[in-house]
Amino acid sequence: MLLEEIKKRKSVRSYSEEKISDKTLNEILEAGRLAPSWVNVQPWKFIVIRDEKTKELLFKASGEQKQVLGANVIIACVADMEAWEKKNFGAVLEKSGKNQMVQDYILNSPTLNPSLLGNVEMLTRTIE
Ligand SMILES: Cc1cc2nc3c(=O)[nH]c(=O)nc-3n(C[C@H](O)[C@H](O)[C@H](O)COP(=O)(O)O)c2cc1C
Repeated sequence: MLLEEIKKRKSVRSYSEEKISDKTLNEILEAGRLAPSWVNVQPWKFIVIRDEKTKELLFKASGEQKQVLGANVIIACVADMEAWEKKNFGAVLEKSGKNQMVQDYILNSPTLNPSLLGNVEMLTRTIE
């Protein structure tokens, strides 16, 4: 039962030495890519990190969480603020099939278009 699986779920912070295959990595990326987002804007980018120097920078940025150094591969999911730029967000709305009046309403509404609310609010909406 799904609830039983959810009860067994836990955060894992130490890892085996086994290298993750490209096939498995691609499946994980594909699962992330398919996550739902508002009007399917997909305001994210996934960055695959294997480079030790970059891991060291992330370790510091994370408040020195040791699991960052212990991971063989890290997938950083970062907010894509450019997704809300008029040319990008407008194209997504156009593709969604909404009529022009609704598209214009969304683009010009601070409640629905985070880019009208400044960087901090836009970031919050993008990562939530
Ligand atoms: C928004 C959010 C941020 C989190 N940030 C961290 C983090 O920076 N480092 C970490 O080790 N765990 C982080 N966690 C995991 C939680 O600490 C963890 O889910 C919680 O302690 C419950 O433990 P469990 O996942 O094993 O059930 C985060 C969880 C959430 C939902």
